Amino acid sequence: MQANSSSTIQQVFIDLGDRSYPIAIGAGLLGDPDTYRDLPSASSALIVSNTTVAPLYAQALRLALSKHYQNVLQVTLPDGEAHKDWPTLQLIFDSLLSNGCDRKTVLVALGGGVVGDMAGFAAACYMRGVPFVQVPTTLLAQVDSSVGGKTAINHPLGKNMVGAFYQPERVICDLDVLQTLPQRELSAGLAEIIKYGPIADMAFLDWIEANIDALLARDPAALAHAIQRSCEIKAAVVGEDEREAGLRAILNFGHTFGHAIESGLGYGQWLHGEGVGCGMVMAANLSQRMGLIDTAFVDRLRGLIQRAGLPVIGPKLSSGDNAGRYLELMRVDKKSEAGEIRFVVIDGPGRATVRTAPDGVVREVIDACCE
Ligand code: NAD
Ligand code: GLY
Repeated sequence: MQANSSSTIQQVFIDLGDRSYPIAIGAGLLGDPDTYRDLPSASSALIVSNTTVAPLYAQALRLALSKHYQNVLQVTLPDGEAHKDWPTLQLIFDSLLSNGCDRKTVLVALGGGVVGDMAGFAAACYMRGVPFVQVPTTLLAQVDSSVGGKTAINHPLGKNMVGAFYQPERVICDLDVLQTLPQRELSAGLAEIIKYGPIADMAFLDWIEANIDALLARDPAALAHAIQRSCEIKAAVVGEDEREAGLRAILNFGHTFGHAIESGLGYGQWLHGEGVGCGMVMAANLSQRMGLIDTAFVDRLRGLIQRAGLPVIGPKLSSGDNAGRYLELMRVDKKSEAGEIRFVVIDGPGRATVRTAPDGVVREVIDACCE
C-alpha cells in the first residue's frame, strides 16, 4: 500500500444512514474556515478544550468558526484522564446554560480522546441532544476515539461506564497538530493503529512494521496513510455494528486487560494507549494458550508494540494475589455477561472474535506477562 501525500485532503465516510458523516484527513484543516462549511446552522458554537490544547489551537479554531457562527464560546477543562468525570462534565453544562445556549448550539471538541468523549457525551445530553464536531488533536483520537460515536466518562469503579452512543456531524483530523504531541502520547496512538492489523488487516500490519520508524518520526505521509487506513477499518466495523451488538467488540482487542491496568493503577498513571499496547500482548498470549494462534505471532506482535515505544510487561496491581486483582477488575467490563469476562482473542492472522476463558488460563497469562 502506498502512503499518500499529506498535502491532499483524504476523506473517509462513516455510513450510518441519516447519521452518516465524513472524516477529513489533511494538513492545515483546523484553521481553515472551509473545513466547517455546511455544518448545522446555529447562532452559537461552543469549543470544548482543555488547559493544554486550548492555548495551542483554540484561537485558530475560534477564528475559523467565527466565519459561520455569530458567537463562538469556549470552555476549558482541566487536562487528564483523572478529570474524565461528573464534576468536569458539569463544567460544559455550566458554560452552555450560563451563556444561554439553545438546542441548536454546536459543540466542537478540540483535544484528545478525553475531551472528545466528554464533549460528545455532553452533546448527547444537553437539551436531549445538540450537534457536535470532533477536532481530534492526538493520534489516538484521530484513529479511534473521535470516530464511531462512543462517548463516556469514567466511574471510580470502571472505565467509560457512563456514556452514550452519539455520532458527530464531522471529524477533522489535522495532521499539523500532531507535531506538538509529546512522544509518549504519539506511541499511545500507535497502539490503536497497530490494533487494526491483527484484528482485520494483515497487509496493514506489514505496512506498519515497515513504516514504524517513519511514524515515530512523524513523517506526514506515513501518518496520513496510517490514519486513513485505521479510519477505513473502523468505519467498516461501525457501519456494520454501530451499537456493539457483536462485531464492534473486536475493536476492543487488548482493552479488557488494558482497562484493568488503567483503573487498577489509578486513571492517568498509564496512558490509555499504553494499557492497550500491553493488553494486546496479554490478549495475544491468551489466544495462543487457547490454541488459536502460534507463539511466532505473539512474538511478532510483542516486537512491534515494543518498537512503537509501548510497555509490553504488565504492572503488578496487587502485592498479594496479582492475577486475582486483574480478574476482579476485568469483571467490571462492558463486555462481561453475568459476571463472566469476555475477551477479544485473535483466532487467525487478521481475524478476531470474542471468547470466554477459564480463570486458570487467564491467571497463567497474567503470571507470564506481568512484573
Ligand atoms: P488525552 O485526551 O488525555 O490526550 C493526551 C494528552 O495530550 C493530554 O495531556 C492532552 O492535553 C495532550 N494533547 C492533546 N493534543 C495535543 C497536541 N496536539 N499537542 C500537545 N498536547 C496535546 O488522551 P488520548 O490518548 O487522546 O485519549 C484517551 C481517551 O480516549 C481515554 O479516555 C479513552 O478511554 C478514550 N477512548 C475512547 C474511544 C472511543 O471510541 N470513544 C476509543 C479509544 C479511546
Ligand atoms: N474503541 C472501540 C470502539 O470504538 O468500539
